[in-house]
Amino acid sequence: MQGAFSLGLNGVTPVQFGSRPTHPTKLIPREYVLLPDPIAISPYLPSRRATLAEGQPISELMARALDNPGLISLAAGFVDGQTLPVEIVREVTSDLLGNDSEARAMLQYGATPGLPALRRSILEQCTASNNSQETHDRVVITAGSNQLLHLVAESLLDPGDIVLCAAPTYLVFLGTVANLGARTWSVATDDEGIIPEALEASLHHLVEMGDLPRVKAIYLVPYFDNPSGIMMPAERVQRIVEIAKRWSHRTRIHVIADEAYRELRYSGEDVPSASEFDDDGETVIVAGTFSKSFSPGVRIGWGILPEHLVGPVCAQKGNIDFGSPNLNQHLMAEVLRRGLFAQHVETLRANYSRKLDAMLAAADEHLASLDGVSWLRPTGGLYVWAKVPPTIDTGPAGELFDRSIEEGMLYVPGQYCYPSEGQPVAKNTMRLSFGVQSCERIREGIASLARAIRAVA
Ligand SMILES: Cc1ncc(COP(=O)(O)O)c(C=O)c1O
Repeated sequence: MQGAFSLGLNGVTPVQFGSRPTHPTKLIPREYVLLPDPIAISPYLPSRRATLAEGQPISELMARALDNPGLISLAAGFVDGQTLPVEIVREVTSDLLGNDSEARAMLQYGATPGLPALRRSILEQCTASNNSQETHDRVVITAGSNQLLHLVAESLLDPGDIVLCAAPTYLVFLGTVANLGARTWSVATDDEGIIPEALEASLHHLVEMGDLPRVKAIYLVPYFDNPSGIMMPAERVQRIVEIAKRWSHRTRIHVIADEAYRELRYSGEDVPSASEFDDDGETVIVAGTFSKSFSPGVRIGWGILPEHLVGPVCAQKGNIDFGSPNLNQHLMAEVLRRGLFAQHVETLRANYSRKLDAMLAAADEHLASLDGVSWLRPTGGLYVWAKVPPTIDTGPAGELFDRSIEEGMLYVPGQYCYPSEGQPVAKNTMRLSFGVQSCERIREGIASLARAIRAVA
């Protein structure tokens, strides 16, 4: 501050800007006067939050992909452009706008929590037990589920508070929490997600550190996790909800169940949402989205919240946009009402399932013979999580990353998906996404990766 501003003296100060005199007779109490010095002023001092947000590693990766248009990017978590619902959106939007007065209403602001018809449909779709006490009052529509995660984090967390999560976990959520000055703490994970015993051990550890009152939430991606692709069995999710309730003493530990990939299931049956295990509805926060299952451009997500969080989340949302895009909400409500959503999801499943098979077959062909290389075999979602020998660092500072780009492919280094506290960061991991590329390019991308691994091993 010193040098950038000068304070008036003697308790009262004639208002001046630099050397230009204004009204020397107008006297203002000293504590209100900060006079900018035009020579020393800094052009822009980013806030602490802006500085933290700058560090998002994924933007750097995206820039590398854009700089190399020939690159086969298995990094971006985008959906397949070829299957976006162009026809459905064109037809339904044109029908919706057919009547002038209805069109005007849709082009107006809506209510902060969202369109009641859409909130009701989402509730019906997400909760198997059609509990008659359940009302859409607990559903809040947001601009994608990232906004919901952000609003929930803002409503729950103060600087220094802790969210427990899987190792690895969704990297954008790590950024959201860090941006609030709060902490993420990772818990050991096996091929069914967070290990309940390890979760209890982490909680005991945090008690010893005097940090238990700071634990505000456990974050899960129960369906086809990003980045690991892991599907958590219902019993595992149920145990985690029970642990959260049992360990909620003076402060409640919420379970944030991020269900972004629930619809992208390519085999097996759907399993109940974490909210089904929350008898009193006070613990589980569900985050959902139409981004992966319909279109990220429509940007409609939602939260199904404990009653006590609806007010705080809507208040935060009121400060940001006082309601998600109204026309898009009408569009989604109509798409659901006409049964077009379910049909579209079937098309997506068939398409992504082929791409997943292509990636797994290519991995079997090109990676299986490489020492110490392994990968998980998901049954849904958009990602395959792979490991290379511990001697290879997959990060941007390691040899493999640059070598893979030279060979023509890009992946997401797994180390971005680990919190700095809790479990050790596995630097020999990577996320391979099969959503965007064609089956042929997926095969080529994996073959390039195999060449790169061979070159640096
Ligand atoms: C696990 C997870 N949650 C939430 C989101 C956010 O999606 P959106 O904000 O588009 O709804 C994503 C997007 O990739 C994700 O992978």
